[in-house]
Amino acid sequence: MKSKQYILGVLTALLFASCSNDEKVVLKYADEGDSGNPNPITQTLKEKAKFKIGAAVKMKDLQNEANYKNAVLKHYNQITAEFEMKMASIWTSSTAYNYTAADYLVGFAQDNKMEVHGHTLVWYDSFPEWFKKAQYDSIAFEAKVKVYITDVVGRYKGKVKSWDVVNEVFADGGAMRNETVINSLFKDPIGFYGRCFRYAKAADPDAKLFYNDYSVVLDAGKRASIKKMVARFKANGVPIDGLGDQFHYATDTNRQTMKTGFTDLASTGLLIHISELDIKVNTGKSDSYVFNDVENQKQAETYKYITTMYEELPQTQKFAISTWGVTDKYTWLTSFWHSKEYPLLLDADYNKKPAYQGFLDGLK
Ligand code: G3I
Repeated sequence: MKSKQYILGVLTALLFASCSNDEKVVLKYADEGDSGNPNPITQTLKEKAKFKIGAAVKMKDLQNEANYKNAVLKHYNQITAEFEMKMASIWTSSTAYNYTAADYLVGFAQDNKMEVHGHTLVWYDSFPEWFKKAQYDSIAFEAKVKVYITDVVGRYKGKVKSWDVVNEVFADGGAMRNETVINSLFKDPIGFYGRCFRYAKAADPDAKLFYNDYSVVLDAGKRASIKKMVARFKANGVPIDGLGDQFHYATDTNRQTMKTGFTDLASTGLLIHISELDIKVNTGKSDSYVFNDVENQKQAETYKYITTMYEELPQTQKFAISTWGVTDKYTWLTSFWHSKEYPLLLDADYNKKPAYQGFLDGLK
């Protein structure tokens, strides 16, 4: 049986090999085991990449599902807490922190020689309700945020090697988000954010400090505002080390726009983090969408395009590529996007998808 499979595999491979490199189709591989595939995937993401390969994880999934935990350990060497290291999870009252989940995740990473990317210290969307209700003035507000940053970064000093200090302060097009508590209190929100970077640096001088946002490489206005903030920070000695673009994109995201924006982002000279990578396929949000081989192939080629683009960075600017989740089974998009989605590299049964091979193919 195996010889027939092998011959079929070889013929298939020869058929695809005859395509020009650009149209090279990514074969849909099964997972490990002697499936007779002519060239089964053997290297994992973290084995091939010359930079960290991260994933957003949740404590309860690591605790409750062995396949999930094994997949994290097998494919990744960095983790980001999907929500447990945000203010809303840790800062439970004006007099108390709840570090349980954050401690678990940092401990898991330490036990398994993985890095942790801290996400995120200051995000308008994650201020705890009690904090917002307190209606502090700007002096008290900043004093409390400073204590929070000092306490949290200090607790994980030397263990959390990098932080998203500030997340998503610009609206589409690049104007300041005006619906945030920060904008209502500070005439110069960027000045406040710069001081937050300084508080984090004081708490852990060795941690790499990032600004993180979405659609950065697609939205020229937002990117211009980010670059202007970076220039101001650099001119004033604000300690910023890197920029994250979340890369919540899709198979139909314009690749030239992506590449032009990525090159512009890299021109800052900072570390570049693809921080929340997932590639939507059901771009029409159709209830009757079928994730067939053609769709798998489009997704694989999109992942390959992105990792190929990332590899064109100078090595000194490569930091990590992190996927926003481990398996399609638990993607945030199911609840947020309200449609069937299959955005990640492992399917709901933790098998490698063609997207996994596409990701690998783009790596040098
Ligand atoms: O697990 C608890 C559950 O025990 C509890 O009963 C329930 C009640 O509130 O909450 C559950 O936690 C939720 C968590 O997701 C896990 O599902 C939180 O409420 C919910 O706020 C949290 O949403 C996260 C969201 O950020 C807000 O923190 C999403 O998982 C996460 O994917 C999303 O990630 C953001 C990035 O941080 C920033 N970039 C955009 C990205 C997607 O929105």
